[in-house]
Amino acid sequence: MIKPKSMLVDKRGDVQIGGCKIMPLIETYGTPLYIMDVETIRSTVQAYKKLLSIYPNSKVAYASKALSITALYQLLGEEGLFFDVVSDGELYTLLNAGIPAHRAYFHGNNKSNDEIRYALEQEVGCLVVDNKDELKRIETIYKKNKFTHKVAILFRIVPEIEAHTHDFVKTGQRDSKFGVLQENLFDVIKYALSMSFIHFRGIHAHIGSQIFDVEPYRFLLEKFVSIAEKAQNEMGVSMEEISLGGGIGIQYTEDDDPPSIDNFMLTIASAIKDTIDKSNLKIKPTIVIEPGRSIVATAGVTVYNIGAVKTIPDKRTYVSVDGGMADNPRPITYNAVYSADIMNKMNDPKTNKVTVAGKFCESGDILLKDILLQKPEAGDILMVYVTGAYNYSMSSNYNRYRKPAMIFVEKGQHKLVLKRETLADIIRNDVKL
Ligand SMILES: Cc1ncc(COP(=O)(O)O)c(C=O)c1O
Repeated sequence: MIKPKSMLVDKRGDVQIGGCKIMPLIETYGTPLYIMDVETIRSTVQAYKKLLSIYPNSKVAYASKALSITALYQLLGEEGLFFDVVSDGELYTLLNAGIPAHRAYFHGNNKSNDEIRYALEQEVGCLVVDNKDELKRIETIYKKNKFTHKVAILFRIVPEIEAHTHDFVKTGQRDSKFGVLQENLFDVIKYALSMSFIHFRGIHAHIGSQIFDVEPYRFLLEKFVSIAEKAQNEMGVSMEEISLGGGIGIQYTEDDDPPSIDNFMLTIASAIKDTIDKSNLKIKPTIVIEPGRSIVATAGVTVYNIGAVKTIPDKRTYVSVDGGMADNPRPITYNAVYSADIMNKMNDPKTNKVTVAGKFCESGDILLKDILLQKPEAGDILMVYVTGAYNYSMSSNYNRYRKPAMIFVEKGQHKLVLKRETLADIIRNDVKL
């Protein structure tokens, strides 16, 4: 699925998402505009909850790096999810949404001392500890601030599995900035057990992103269960929790063919149940998954105004839009590909091969290369699909660009959830000489 679930195009070619006509919203809020279809988010969350129906001892934690804004935390909080945060800023936003800190997992390979103190102060549910040095810093900060609560931790480990869209490599890939090497795991667990305020809960790994296949997760699970058995048998330590990370893939273009989240969850949940039932673990661990992209990506579209169309004979037609790498840095950062339509010409054939250029002062600021579109003209609206994840969250103020507004649409209602930045916002941290 590339388009948001609730998107409709009527006979006249008018586009609706979440029961809201999009053109009037553009007139109200301007372009570029991020639009999020709440129905798509809710239905994806329901698909993830299949995991809980098959293996009830599980948790879905939304990896909020994909899109971290107050309104989304509120929405997902109501759906009962847990949350991954990777910075004090994400944690602060989560708390601003009224989500209690005990529903948060705090990740990161180099959390700052301030971030550790803040996480301890707020009593986050779990710190996902990346290395032994971090554990030592946690101890120092805990003692210095005279905290008294127990601190739950997972250790992030290098999974030695590298997963890509359709395949995965079982060994190698030890070369990662994230996590404890497996051969050092028992050593750091012993170290953690020597600290009376630490509650060692288990292990975590994240094997990649845009993964279309269940197999690497099954392999990771089996590996983790055998590590847990070894910890139980050799150290008398129970792993109460095993986190398989995020990375479940979604469709950006017609060339992508990921399984549906429903099917993914049914398969992985059965594998979890079987593997744990067959194990000799005395305590059945809680299984955590951490989807980010797949919860929000497809819900999002970005609409842009086309300002100019330039044809270089026998070469290329450039279509310039009023946004680009600052609101969507994925194409320039790692050649990410997208699908799009000219929103006011939806019923026209897509016969024009064009390249959509952003407005920023980099020739590499190309949003869509050699894509087929309806005939583009200045004044048209371009709708780019699947922009809900890692677009706003990776956006910047490059060229002193004002970040766009975002609206949520559902059941004929819309809600502004991010205001467009103002010129005053742009200079708010400037200090005059
Ligand atoms: C530790 C961890 N968990 C979860 C995720 C979410 O991955 P995705 O958005 O691909 O589901 C990431 C992404 O980088 C991650 O690093």
